[in-house]
Amino acid sequence: MSESTVRPDPAAPEGPAPDRVRVAVIGAGNMGGPVVRTLLASGVRPENLLIANSTPASGERAAAELGATAAASRAEAVAGADVVILGVKPYQILDLLTALREDLSPHAVVVSLAAGIALAPMEELLPDSQPVARAMPNTPISVGEGAVGLMRGSALTDAQHALLHALFARAGVVVDITEEQVHAFIGAAGSLPAFVFVLVEAMTDEAVRLGLRRDLAGALVQQTTLGAAAMLRETGMHPAAAKNAVSSPGGTTVQGLAALEREGVRAGVAAAMAAAAETSRAMTER
Ligand SMILES: NC(=O)c1ccc[n+]([C@@H]2O[C@H](COP(=O)([O-])OP(=O)(O)OC[C@H]3O[C@@H](n4cnc5c(N)ncnc54)[C@H](OP(=O)(O)O)[C@@H]3O)[C@@H](O)[C@H]2O)c1
Repeated sequence: MSESTVRPDPAAPEGPAPDRVRVAVIGAGNMGGPVVRTLLASGVRPENLLIANSTPASGERAAAELGATAAASRAEAVAGADVVILGVKPYQILDLLTALREDLSPHAVVVSLAAGIALAPMEELLPDSQPVARAMPNTPISVGEGAVGLMRGSALTDAQHALLHALFARAGVVVDITEEQVHAFIGAAGSLPAFVFVLVEAMTDEAVRLGLRRDLAGALVQQTTLGAAAMLRETGMHPAAAKNAVSSPGGTTVQGLAALEREGVRAGVAAAMAAAAETSRAMTER
């Protein structure tokens, strides 16, 4: 992702601080919920973070659980909002925008979380000057260790772009990506947690088969997975160098690595990521 930057250009104009903006989240479900938690952690005030779900009762439940404010209706959530986040399913995005467009403030930044819905069809439904963006998160943002890929629409100003970075600051890492890169992003971040969960499950099951109690097996595998990633991030070591450094001739690790390669784990992981990216591309082109 050579065009990506982890932070906005420091020379870019500063937007308003998160504690001064009003945000509407339409659809605080499996992904919208963690986004609400991220926004609150980044400084949005609970009274300025309004949630509308499919029914007022569902919005109230989500707001109570997440520590935000329930709106009586989608229109009430959107009225006066500086940022409107759409967390509904992809097939609902364009109908929802059509229903909401009369209620949007002209300056409101519309941010879709949806996979497969490009900026262009959203922009076509709205006035040319309405700022639109896409944010592609993954679920580890719920613990502040996730990733968000931001895509800019044509009317988004530098100040609004800086505001989106500030709003997602507590997600983990926030990167700017192009819509062409979003498919790779889904393979490398959006869908990747599920692949890691499968690997962690498999390693835990094997540790139990080898004789460890399940709670101990889980703790060891989780800590080691976390530690290996943290070590690469903090030292900047290449993964191959880190692997070679623990492979003594004829030793336990190198024998394990040979088995890993024989079983095709590397090819399996690559196939999983490619399938996610290809599906994202196909969904967008439909
Ligand atoms: N899950 C992921 O890992 C992930 C990752 C990246 C992006 N995304 C994107 O996130 C979006 C949401 O996915 P999800 O997995 O979070 O789905 P979800 O759990 O089903 O959440 C959808 C939310 O939308 C609400 N909703 C449905 N119809 C509505 C309406 N007409 N007006 C207002 N709210 C409405 C639902 O309310 P109720 O709770 O009342 O039904 C629910 O809170 C999708 O576009 C997806 O592409 C998901």
